[in-house]
Amino acid sequence: MRAYLACFNTVCGAVYPVTEVIYTCPKCGGLLETRYEGPSPEAWTLKQVWRERRMSNHPIDQSGVWRYREMFPFLEEDRHVITLREGNTPILDTVLASSYASVDRIRFKHQGFNPTGSFKDNGMTAGTSQAVRLGMKRVACVSTGNTSASMAAYAVSAGLEPIILIPNGNIAFGKLGQALDYGAKTLQVDANFDQILALVRVLAEKLGIYLLNSVNPFRIEGQKSIVIEMLDQLDWEVPDWIVVPGGNLGNISAFGKGARELYEQGFITRMPKFAVIQAAGASPFYEFMKAPHEHGFTPNTHPETLATAIKIGDPVSWPKAWQTIGAEGVVESVTEQEIADAKAVIGRSGIGCEPASATTLAGVKKLRAAGKIRADESIVAVLTGNVLKDPDYIYRYHTNQLKDPQEQALTGTYANPPVVVANDFAAIAKLLGD
Ligand code: F0G
Repeated sequence: MRAYLACFNTVCGAVYPVTEVIYTCPKCGGLLETRYEGPSPEAWTLKQVWRERRMSNHPIDQSGVWRYREMFPFLEEDRHVITLREGNTPILDTVLASSYASVDRIRFKHQGFNPTGSFKDNGMTAGTSQAVRLGMKRVACVSTGNTSASMAAYAVSAGLEPIILIPNGNIAFGKLGQALDYGAKTLQVDANFDQILALVRVLAEKLGIYLLNSVNPFRIEGQKSIVIEMLDQLDWEVPDWIVVPGGNLGNISAFGKGARELYEQGFITRMPKFAVIQAAGASPFYEFMKAPHEHGFTPNTHPETLATAIKIGDPVSWPKAWQTIGAEGVVESVTEQEIADAKAVIGRSGIGCEPASATTLAGVKKLRAAGKIRADESIVAVLTGNVLKDPDYIYRYHTNQLKDPQEQALTGTYANPPVVVANDFAAIAKLLGD
C-alpha cells in the first residue's frame, strides 16, 4: 500500500508525500487527508486477523489502535510506533441513561478508559509515531486540556519534548495536572483556544516544531480506530446512530472517514448516521448546519461553556465534519443545565464522564423528543473523557454551587451532596435511617 497526503479541497486536489512536514495544503490552504492506494487484504481476512491479535502479547497487537493498522498504513516501519496500549475501551449498557433519553437502548463507548483518560490517545499514538518517523525533536499543541495531557504522555514516552499552550484559567485541573506530571513545558496563554491555535501554527512552522493538533492528518488516522474497534466489538453490526460531542470537529471527521473506508472495503454493508452535539454557547457548527448552503461558516468569537473541553468557536475541521454529517446526520446543541443533568445521570449509571462527553446523552434526549431519533433505533454514544478530568465541576453540581458562564445558578437536579456529621454513632445511625 502506498500512502500519500491529499488536499481535502476537491477543486485543488494537490497530493504530497507523507514524509512532508505539512498540516494544510501549501497550494490552497485546504485541510489535508491521508489516502492510500494499492491492494489490501480482503475484509473477511482482516476481521479474522484482528480478532487473533487480541490474544497476542506484542505491544502493537495489544494496542486497540495499531491492532487495526491495515486501515492506516502510513508508517513504513513498526519500530516507529509509540504505544501506551491505547484503545481497548468498552461499550457499556445502561438502563438508567436509556430511560432518561426515552430510548430503548443507548450504549456508551467509553474513551475515558484510555491511558491518559480521553479519546485523544487514539489519535496521539498515530501523530507521535509520525513525529518519530519524521525525526522531529519537539512537538506542540494548543489544547482545552485533553490533547495536551495525551500529547505530553506520548511525547515523553517517545523521547520528544512536549510544548503545550493552553487558554489561561480555562482548562480543568485534572488535565493541567497531567501535563505537569508528564513533564511538558506548559504555557498558559491569555487568549482563547482559537486564537492560540493560530499562534501555535506559526510557532510550529517557524521553529520547526511538529504540530499535534487535530489538523494534523495522522491524528485523524489514529482516531478512525475508535469507530473500527466499536464495530469490531459489535460483531460488525452497524448501529443506526453514532453520537459524539463536537469541539474542533476532528473526532467526527475521523469517524466519518473511518466508517466510509470500512464501507467501501466491504467490512460493513451500510453506513451509520452521525449526530454531533455541541454546547449551546459554543455551537458554530450547529448554527452553520441549520442552513449550510446559505451564509458560509461563521465562527463564534466568544465561545462560552462550562464543558471547557469543547469551548471552541472556530473549529478547523468543519469541512470534513460537514461531509460526514451529510444528508442523513444531525447536529444538535444543548444547554448547560442539560449537560449537567445528563452528566449526573451517566454518573449514577456507574459509568461517569467529563462534562463535554455528557452532551451526547443530553443530545440524544433532545433529538428523541424532537422525533429525529426513534426509540427503537440502536445508538452508540461516545464518552470522550474520564470522570476524574474535572472534579471541580462535579463537586459544584452536587453541592448546588454550579453557575453557568453568565453566572446564573444551575440546578443540581440529581445532586448528591456529601453530609458533614459528628464523630458519633447515634448521629450517623440516625442519618442512615436506622
Ligand atoms: N470531548 C472531549 C473530552 C474533548 O477533550 C474534546 C476536544 C472533544 C470532546 C471534542 O472533540 O475537538 O475532535 O470535536 N478536546 C480538544 C483538546 C480540543 O484540546 O483537548 P473534537
